[in-house]
This record gives sequence, C-alpha cells and structure tokens, in this order.
Amino acid sequence: MGFQITPSILNADLSLLAHEVGRIPSSDWVHVDVMDGHFVPNLTVGAPVIESLRRHTKLPIDAHLMIEEPDRWAPEYAEAGCGSVTFHAEAAHAPVRLARELRAKGARAGMALKPATPVEPFGDMLGELDMLLLMTVEPGFGGQEFLDIVLPKIRRARSLISAAGLEVRLQVDGGVSPDTIERCAEAGADTFVAGSAVFGADDPDAMVKQLRDQAARAATPR
Ligand code: DX5
Ligand code: ZN
Repeated sequence: MGFQITPSILNADLSLLAHEVGRIPSSDWVHVDVMDGHFVPNLTVGAPVIESLRRHTKLPIDAHLMIEEPDRWAPEYAEAGCGSVTFHAEAAHAPVRLARELRAKGARAGMALKPATPVEPFGDMLGELDMLLLMTVEPGFGGQEFLDIVLPKIRRARSLISAAGLEVRLQVDGGVSPDTIERCAEAGADTFVAGSAVFGADDPDAMVKQLRDQAARAATPR
C-alpha cells in the first residue's frame, strides 16, 4: 500500500468548498471533518453538504465523523457517496456491527481513536476495518500542535496490523506538517490528514506532493 495524503478542508474557505478542493488535485482523498457540537465542541457540515461537494470533485471523500450516535448517523454518509466513513470508537455502541454496515453500503469502514484511547482493546476487530485513524491532537479544531505522545501507539497499532497480516490503512490526523510527518511515517502511519499545512501553504497541491514524498522517504521498509 502506498502513502496517501488526505487533506482536511476544515481550515479551507468553507464558503468556496468546490474551489478549495480544486486546489488539491494531487490528493488521494478529501478529508471532511463532520462535527456535531456534542462529541466535540465545534460544529461543521453534514451529509447534505458532502453530497453537494461530491458532484464537484473527482476525488473520493474521506468522512471523519466526530459525532455522538455514529451507529445511527454514519450509514447516511455512505449513502451520501463517501468512499470512506470513519466513526469514533469512543462514541460507537456496536463498532463491529457498524463497520459491517458501512462496508455493506459500499464504503470503506474506518474507526478513530482519540489520543488517550488505547488501541489494544480493539486488536481483535481490526480485520473489520479498512482504516484505523489515530488522532494526534484532541479532535475538534484544526491548527493544533502535534502530540508526540501518540507515536508509541502508532508503532503498537502498526505491529498489531502486521502481526495479523491485515491490509488496514493507518491514518494520522492533527498537526501533521513537514515538521511532523516523518515521525509518523517512521512509526508506521501510511495515510496522512493535513489541514492547515496544506491550505495554509502558498501552493497547496505542491504541499500535498511534498508531504507524500517526505513520508515515503522516512518510512522504514515493512
Ligand atoms: C481535528 C480534525 C482534523 C483537522 C486537522 O479535529 O479531525 O482533521 O482538521 O487539521 P490540522 O492539520 O490543521 O491539525
Ligand atoms: Zn479529521
């Protein structure tokens, strides 16, 4: 599996979404942060906005649901055409059932863990997932500082995935930039969300390419 960059539009101009996504054609996915004002203290966009955005981009959409009751709401993001739907383990009541439902609806199933949530309790269900997202900031806002304390968990998650012989993507999200992406790749991440680093750059698409190159160079052979 190659290295993928999935820019977050959270720090883009949200009134010009189609235009903003057009500035990052080299991306592998567009990462859309869905926040409900309950699971996190911020409120963003929902399925209707994603469904509209989808008609204006060829890039597949990677929805990151920072919401309560994902068991109830996540399937509609698969129906809205998201190629990947990630729910939070801390909010899901039946994560295995939910992951299976997302896959049955044709989406990739992703599960996210906040910085202080350990990965080990979920080791036996990794095969139910297409992607595991490890948050490297507390979810809720873009532009926060990368949390180095998550690096050992990235290594442990990579070991669990490798030991089980799985092809689960390992995504990191929060504070990923030219200064931090190499640490993440070296620890075993292969999929990288970057919001402010990409949309704060003079040339966002060049930054996408730079980040992918940096990750590929820093990664240890697996
Ligand atoms: C934070 C979101 C992230 C965020 C990343 O809760 O999940 O996707 O937008 O933004 P940066 O890269 O600026 O930390
Ligand atoms: Zn995110």
